[in-house]
Amino acid sequence: MTDFPQASLIDSIRFTAQIAVPGVIQGLFSKRVLPVRVAAKAHADQFGHQLVQGMVDRAGAAPIALKVGTDDAVLVHTPEDLEFVLGHSPSPFASDPAAKHKGMAAFQPDALTISRGDLWANRRRFAEAVLDTGSPLHRLAPDFAAVAVAEADALVSARTVTWDAINAAFQRITRRVVFGDAATDDQQLTDDLAALMAAGNKMPGTPAPNLAAFMAKVQAHVDRAEPGSLCALIADAPSDDRTNVAGQVVHWLFAMGDTLPANLYRALALLASHPEQLREVRHALGDGDLTDPAVVAAQTYLAGCLQEAMRLWPTTALFGRVTTEEVTFPGGGVLPAGRQVFIYNVFNHRRRDLVEYADRFAPGEWASGDASENWLFNFFSHGPQGCPGAGLSIFLGQALVGRLLQRAEPRLQGVTLDPAKRLPYSLDIYGYSVALAPRA
Ligand code: HEM
Repeated sequence: MTDFPQASLIDSIRFTAQIAVPGVIQGLFSKRVLPVRVAAKAHADQFGHQLVQGMVDRAGAAPIALKVGTDDAVLVHTPEDLEFVLGHSPSPFASDPAAKHKGMAAFQPDALTISRGDLWANRRRFAEAVLDTGSPLHRLAPDFAAVAVAEADALVSARTVTWDAINAAFQRITRRVVFGDAATDDQQLTDDLAALMAAGNKMPGTPAPNLAAFMAKVQAHVDRAEPGSLCALIADAPSDDRTNVAGQVVHWLFAMGDTLPANLYRALALLASHPEQLREVRHALGDGDLTDPAVVAAQTYLAGCLQEAMRLWPTTALFGRVTTEEVTFPGGGVLPAGRQVFIYNVFNHRRRDLVEYADRFAPGEWASGDASENWLFNFFSHGPQGCPGAGLSIFLGQALVGRLLQRAEPRLQGVTLDPAKRLPYSLDIYGYSVALAPRA
């Protein structure tokens, strides 16, 4: 028992079956194609949203105590409690609940995101120093803009953007940005990582057998420290033997190579189906030179479009924390040590009672509104443990999507998104493509 309103047994069972378990079946780390498609077809996110809405209607504003499987947990869902939890991560809210820890052990046992205390601070300092977290522009922004524009041009030449095409483009961008041009064609490295992440889905709790061989390849790229790449900045970043530099780089590879293109591909679908917003993006772009970092960074409305795709269809649907000690919440409720805390972005991002634009595409809320201050929106998380690659992700997205829209007219194929209706809760990246007709 806890101090918080308790979800009914049936709600707990449904939360476990409809939200927590599907997250595992779809693949915590590498999304499995078939279950993801089935989930989209079965409207899993819509049912998840309805379920949590009902739980919140019954429980009110407090965190909701529930059983997830056999574990006692709470679900936090108000901006105040989200700020409390994420503002106090990783201590006393650590970000290494058992399932995540067991899965990540397979392919990045030394990851920042599953580190605690001093070790987390050590690795976080290193990541922020290389990624220039919080700076308006990364030191290597000119190199990165040039890479993104070149890959956008290749996509325009192919005339149709599919998920496979944009994912492959981003795998190349990632290898170039992280390791430099010499790694552009090292597809094997990307394939090796995909295999390791698939092993992570099984949550083995121990490093995968081929991890050592993969890490040797990563280390070789790190040692080259190619000028113009993130690895060139490692020597000047604070690190010691506990940091495990190569172990940190692995997270950058999967976040930039898989998570980022999924979000950009959905933003492209939105822009291809919302003429008013597309016009606004085009107006700001003009014929500005997107290899110039200042021109890229000035595309704040386009940045809002990318953030809206992430709000509407968060790639991190559900994430969690675990208490390292007893914690008293702002409302007075006490949570014992060792309890899981769940954050369900699919619901929080579209709370109709708190977000007027919950189900529509509203980039202006980011560009000139206050969406970025809202703790409900956690596609990049928030607080001390918020995503240190957020700025770099938006920058690469602005350059790539901006260039596509400057050069081509996008047309959505295979799915319809109607600006006059509530946007659906799922947008299956395997279920559509975007045709690009060259602009005169
Ligand atoms: C659109 C792309 C991205 C999204 C949506 C995203 C999302 C997130 C989220 C939700 C978290 C918090 C996870 C948790 O606490 O459980 C996170 C953490 C993190 N992200 Fe990202 N990320 C993206 C791109 C990147 C990139 C490009 C990098 C690196 C180059 C990166 C590096 C990290 C790292 C190192 C952490 C762990 C931070 C910590 O625990 O202190 N991410 N990201």
